[in-house]
Amino acid sequence: MQVAVYPGSFDPVTKGHLEIIKRASRICGRLIVAVVDNPNKQAMFTLKERLELLEHSVSALDNVEIDIFEGLLINYVKEKQVSIIIKGLRAVSDFEYEFQMALMNKSICGEIETLFMMTSPEYSFLSSSMVKEVVILGGRVDDFVTPFVHEKIMEKIGNEGKA
Ligand code: PNS
Repeated sequence: MQVAVYPGSFDPVTKGHLEIIKRASRICGRLIVAVVDNPNKQAMFTLKERLELLEHSVSALDNVEIDIFEGLLINYVKEKQVSIIIKGLRAVSDFEYEFQMALMNKSICGEIETLFMMTSPEYSFLSSSMVKEVVILGGRVDDFVTPFVHEKIMEKIGNEGKA
């Protein structure tokens, strides 16, 4: 059975992520969606909250599990005895950074392959960072996330007194 890890910050999970998760879950026996903090990004949700949002969003997918990790992705992947990393590619703009990460990971551990899946055109512009920016500035994001995630975003924004 092929097991793959789909890593990301998922802050919060968007419909673009979910589309990749559904498609990846069809081509591997088991998919581990692995949540990690990205120090380059300002977080809206804690790791535990992101895990809960993901668990709720993928509850219908039997072969998908959600986990949290810290540190190097490659160490996590080795610890899980997985040899495939799944990444979504939205646009050419993603390519250079993803290419660098894939080559760095490959140079640390040559046995691990990064497989890229092209995001559907309808989500090619979508990112968690964009969702956060739009909602913090008072815009609507209900088309980009599930109703449950949307509710949690609105609670979070409300709690912080920003809307
Ligand atoms: O959703 P993101 O924030 O674009 O995902 C990027 C992520 C978290 C997958 C990447 O930053 C990562 O792998 N972080 C773990 C730390 C690590 O291994 N860094 C070296 C990458 S070559």
